[in-house]
Amino acid sequence: MEFPMAKIELSNISHTYNPNDLNPTYALNPFSMAWENGKRYAILGPSGCGKTTMLNIVSGLVKPSEGNILFDGNDVTNLITEERNIAQVFQFPVIYNTMTVYDNLAFPLKCRDFSKEKIEERVKSVSDTLRLSSFLNMPARKLTADQKQLISLGRGLVREDVAAVLMDEPLTVIDPDLKFRLRRNLKEINEQYKTTLVYVTHDQNEAMTFADNIIVMDQGEIVQVGLPKDLFERPKTTFVGYFIGSPAMNLFETQLSSNNSVKINDTIIKTNTNLSKLKNNNLKLGIRSEFVKVAKDESENLLEVNIQKIEDFGNFKLLTANMGNLTIKSKVNRETEIPTQNVKLYFPADKCCVYEDSKLV
Ligand SMILES: Nc1ncnc2c1ncn2[C@@H]1O[C@H](COP(=O)(O)OP(=O)(O)OP(=O)(O)O)[C@@H](O)[C@H]1O
Ligand SMILES: [Mg+2]
Repeated sequence: MEFPMAKIELSNISHTYNPNDLNPTYALNPFSMAWENGKRYAILGPSGCGKTTMLNIVSGLVKPSEGNILFDGNDVTNLITEERNIAQVFQFPVIYNTMTVYDNLAFPLKCRDFSKEKIEERVKSVSDTLRLSSFLNMPARKLTADQKQLISLGRGLVREDVAAVLMDEPLTVIDPDLKFRLRRNLKEINEQYKTTLVYVTHDQNEAMTFADNIIVMDQGEIVQVGLPKDLFERPKTTFVGYFIGSPAMNLFETQLSSNNSVKINDTIIKTNTNLSKLKNNNLKLGIRSEFVKVAKDESENLLEVNIQKIEDFGNFKLLTANMGNLTIKSKVNRETEIPTQNVKLYFPADKCCVYEDSKLV
């Protein structure tokens, strides 16, 4: 069966590695999701949250305990990896050391009986993109760890007929400068060939700079799928607010004050959220440090603080302020004047997110 580029659907998938235990633990809790053809996805989350499990379920290395995988509507759940037309790139290079770089890159195509001309064309294109052209005749074992991983990547990218290229932390062994360039290259490849790329990482910067859709995972759950902007401005859970962004989102325990305002200690903070249905249980107010301003002439949503420290990062300053036992971080322009006393911080209402039991209201 051939499945050229496809929409990939994960339908009611869940997975446990110990199904026969009395109380099996789930590496993935039930979820459904679709990956559109030709887009770039990043799966982002801390170690052990289930990223590799999800990827391996799509490629066929792991059979899910429950649910189905569909490629363009065809059920592939019981097909092995080779039958799924998926290219997978792992954290560490998987190459044939004795073969030349050319033969390594050509291998996935040779296995599938592509013509010699087609193979040459594809190997040339991919090796140009990955800057491996001058090494094509060398045995792969003579290359550095970085370059070997480029070969692995190239082997994933050389086929034009794959449903998707799945990459599991593929740039871990690569030095930071090269990493940046490679992410750009991957984006170009995606734009040029419209290959669906799925990229697993625990590094938010990698995810943000690479993907147009980010899937954030935590402890076997998909907690948010969205654009970098969505994750930044409206984190759906306090975990996303905490995990994404640097520094993490400011989060304060809070009480209801009215239908659209909350109280932090004794300070009333208006929000743009309708809070009338809340029960006042376990509420938190979240605001990004980027949105916390040093007040000028605002008349509400002000917090009187003591500045604890000011760190100059060159292009911005990071204020750490205290109000009672609370710590508030504010990222301000380097030109911002910071008064020496009676400092007030301003929380714009439209930037305030309210969380009930860790979920965005
Ligand atoms: N082969 C396995 N057998 C048993 N448990 C496993 C196996 N593989 C993973 N797990 C468990 O499943 C959970 C999810 O693991 P997974 O490898 O998918 O996480 P991950 O997000 O890829 O982590 P990392 O960032 O460290 O690679 C973890 O609790 C892990 O210990
Ligand atoms: Mg992993």
